[in-house]
Amino acid sequence: MSRLWERILRPAAFALDAETAHEMAIKGLELGLASPFYCKDRSFGLEPIEAFGLKFDNPLGMAAGFDKNGRVVEELASLGFGFVEVGTVTLRPQPGNEKPRLFRLPKDKALINRLGFNNDGAVVIADRLGRVDRKSVIGVNIGRNKDVPNEEAIDNYVQCFEIVHPVADYIAVNVSSPNTPDLRALQKADQLNELLTALHTKNRELGNKPLLVKIAPDLTGAEIEAIVDACLSNGIAGVIATNTTTSRDGLRSEHAMGLGMGGLSGLPLAKRSTETIRVIRKYSKARLAIIGVGGIFDGRDAKEKLDAGATLMQAYTGFIYSGPAFPRKVLAELAELARSTV
Ligand SMILES: Cc1cc2nc3c(=O)[nH]c(=O)nc-3n(C[C@H](O)[C@H](O)[C@H](O)COP(=O)(O)O)c2cc1C
Repeated sequence: MSRLWERILRPAAFALDAETAHEMAIKGLELGLASPFYCKDRSFGLEPIEAFGLKFDNPLGMAAGFDKNGRVVEELASLGFGFVEVGTVTLRPQPGNEKPRLFRLPKDKALINRLGFNNDGAVVIADRLGRVDRKSVIGVNIGRNKDVPNEEAIDNYVQCFEIVHPVADYIAVNVSSPNTPDLRALQKADQLNELLTALHTKNRELGNKPLLVKIAPDLTGAEIEAIVDACLSNGIAGVIATNTTTSRDGLRSEHAMGLGMGGLSGLPLAKRSTETIRVIRKYSKARLAIIGVGGIFDGRDAKEKLDAGATLMQAYTGFIYSGPAFPRKVLAELAELARSTV
């Protein structure tokens, strides 16, 4: 099966521009073309995980941004992912930034994207998620519309939150995409406190669901600590660390600098993400669950995130490079590592 991916499917997909390939992958998944890769047993010999009141068959999830519109959650669970984070979803639908806006950096096992929250909007996505067969935990990641200034962001987030709340097992508050102008300013303590207080209040009104905050890898230690404080004082269940980086340090791909703005994901992000997890873990004294994400390609990378303090993990770029057998491969390797270190 992995030969089929390496010799035929990946070269065919990589011959297309990255966004066309992505759209075809979503269509292919919807049509069930990945069914030969489905897994019957989604534990892979690992213990199920309990985190923020939810039960996960295994600790590896699909990160936000792959299934922005909730079109293939069942299929991703069937490939072995223990959970799927849909989104980023915004209150109103929006087209995202001008194309081209997604680029591969194969030499670096990385991607650069400046998609800018292209999505169908909260109403359509909530309706779609209301009809899926829930094979795994489903998180919904929310962000603000591009045309809403930060001064009006709270209302925009809260309205989006209300719409997706009934269909989400957990909700991730995205304040860390580099592709919505000024969004990352919402990570600053004062603004974050205000936003989280409003969402926490609404959450209590609607019936508490776990709320998580997704942060950038480009923060100082002091900034991370201020975010942890804001999370702890607003009933936040966990932190997702991390989103993509604006840094281009150490890239080998010659064309990277000419690609313009965007968030870098994949291997070059791995260390920064793991370091961020360590800081959160140490400062929060394990009072927040951590979902570790950034540059996971194999079981060893996954274990590094767990060793740094993560309870759960997510991946996106690894799936693009490794194909449909990716979750199964990572989880089987992780189980093997767990067995050999007992
Ligand atoms: C093409 C692309 C689109 C993304 N879109 C989103 C998004 O809409 N919301 C979000 O929170 N993160 C988004 N991300 C970030 C991922 O969820 C993840 O945090 C990041 O890519 C690091 O993980 P990775 O190295 O495994 O890809 C996106 C990443 C990529 C590559």
